[in-house]
Amino acid sequence: MLAKSSFWPSFFARIVGRLQWNPAAIDLTPDARAWLELPSARRERLTTLLAGFHVAEDAVAEHLAPFTFAAENTPMTSDQTLVAWVFFLQRRDEQRHAVLFDRIAAEVLGLPGATPEERREAARAHAPSALLELFEGRLPELAGELAAGRSGLGEGIALYHMVLEGIVFAAGQRALLDDLEDGALPGVREGVERVERDERWHIGFGLRCLTEANPSPELIDDIVARAGDAVDAWGDAVPPATRASIAPMCARRLSVAGLIEKRAAAA
Ligand SMILES: [Fe+2]
Ligand SMILES: [Fe+2]
Repeated sequence: MLAKSSFWPSFFARIVGRLQWNPAAIDLTPDARAWLELPSARRERLTTLLAGFHVAEDAVAEHLAPFTFAAENTPMTSDQTLVAWVFFLQRRDEQRHAVLFDRIAAEVLGLPGATPEERREAARAHAPSALLELFEGRLPELAGELAAGRSGLGEGIALYHMVLEGIVFAAGQRALLDDLEDGALPGVREGVERVERDERWHIGFGLRCLTEANPSPELIDDIVARAGDAVDAWGDAVPPATRASIAPMCARRLSVAGLIEKRAAAA
């Protein structure tokens, strides 16, 4: 039997080491001052996006836990314990993101609540219903199936890394960064840039694990179809041009990994 390689999980662990940052250290004071001066339509759009991220990052931080277990139980070319460790590192990133968006909710948006849980509840009122359905309906359901062993790692990554992070988060981050390009909220922009950098390695790591999980042609079709719907999860808060540029990214990533071609060969 061939020795298992530690190369690719170690590669992602090294990226994590380079990207460390502290969400408590980002200065949001200028943002809090500038917030009330912004035109109300712009504030409304930004509130939808930032409150949506509060709910969504909380959800992904919580529901990544069973992926560690699923990774340990999925045959791979690499050491499964190392892969499980990278999921643990990803979860630490998600917890950091949740802290950042809670600070933004409290210090910039001024959402009511004395605790992160109370502020998340307040944020829910501003989040689009399609987004809530994905992160509070579909994601916990999948996490339950993974934890019970009724779904495999491939199905988990299909939703979490390919659709939620690869499409929904990417669309929301792009809309935020485009909106904040003028420097109106410098602390928020810095935080979102750091989150986006983290999400890039999460998606790359997910894609690598998906390849290892040897997905069925049906699962590949399902990912592409769900990605096409998920790009609309933010509603009008993400402009149509941004949605159009993000929508093909999922199929492109699967193609780069050779999974689209593999699916075509199986047809
Ligand atoms: Fe995240
Ligand atoms: Fe992530």
